[in-house]
Amino acid sequence: MKYRIMEQTRPGGLLDQVYREVLVPAFPPEELEGESDVAETLEAGLGSLLVAVDDAGKPAGAAFGRWSEASRVQILTYLAVTPATRGHGLGGRLLRDALDAWRDRYDPCVVVAEIENPDAKVVHEAYGDPRRRLAFYEQHGARALDLPYFQPGIGSPSRRVHGMLLLVLHADPSFTPDRADRLAGKPLRTFMEAYLESSEGVRPGDWDAKALFKAIDRDGGIPMGRKSAEA
Ligand SMILES: CC(C)(COP(=O)(O)OP(=O)(O)OC[C@H]1O[C@@H](n2cnc3c(N)ncnc32)[C@H](O)[C@@H]1OP(=O)(O)O)[C@@H](O)C(=O)NCCC(=O)NCCS
Repeated sequence: MKYRIMEQTRPGGLLDQVYREVLVPAFPPEELEGESDVAETLEAGLGSLLVAVDDAGKPAGAAFGRWSEASRVQILTYLAVTPATRGHGLGGRLLRDALDAWRDRYDPCVVVAEIENPDAKVVHEAYGDPRRRLAFYEQHGARALDLPYFQPGIGSPSRRVHGMLLLVLHADPSFTPDRADRLAGKPLRTFMEAYLESSEGVRPGDWDAKALFKAIDRDGGIPMGRKSAEA
């Protein structure tokens, strides 16, 4: 099967179909925001949705990213391929195309992604193998940030998803000024403050958020490296 990848930066188009047929089956409900939130981001001109369609025009995979101008951080919010299509290179193609498009458009920038930590107490095996998912990203050069990371709660801090990793998929050298294996904390702090507040609806001030910001602010930047998926 041949796939064509196209990008939409406005709501409408294939969004509804992609949301129902590609994203809903791929993510646990607590990790998936509403379709209207994705549409709002596109409406605001801050979203990018890459869709892989088959010969019949049916979506087989998608990548959705959100841009933060203040921090110059782009987050790959969702990447998914339909179960029948997995393991044939489409996810890798979507990831490469998304990173190429976003690097060109937003240079200089950092691109990050959230994934489940395979070592976490609760993993959602039904939505894919977290070790293979980490290996997939590492094959594409991802480095895990050494942070007590959690995914902001969708709509409330009580809905946070703990046991997550924040990966760096691309970092312009201007974001690693001291050492190539340390990410500058300041842009990530700006990004996380805005991300937590917009997702949870309140300014973060609790202990988990404080621990996260303390790790982000540490001297010399945030260590990043490969995190073996074999453990
Ligand atoms: C992760 C994902 C996008 C990869 O897409 P893909 O088209 O299968 O990937 P490719 O064919 O380019 O690469 C194959 C690699 O993907 C990973 N992979 C494939 N199927 C997978 C699955 N069911 N679960 C986790 N990882 C998987 C493996 O690392 C695989 O390499 P391996 O065969 O040597 O183990 C896809 O598995 C998926 O949609 N998973 C569910 C959603 C998700 O986890 N998204 C990532 C978080 S945003």
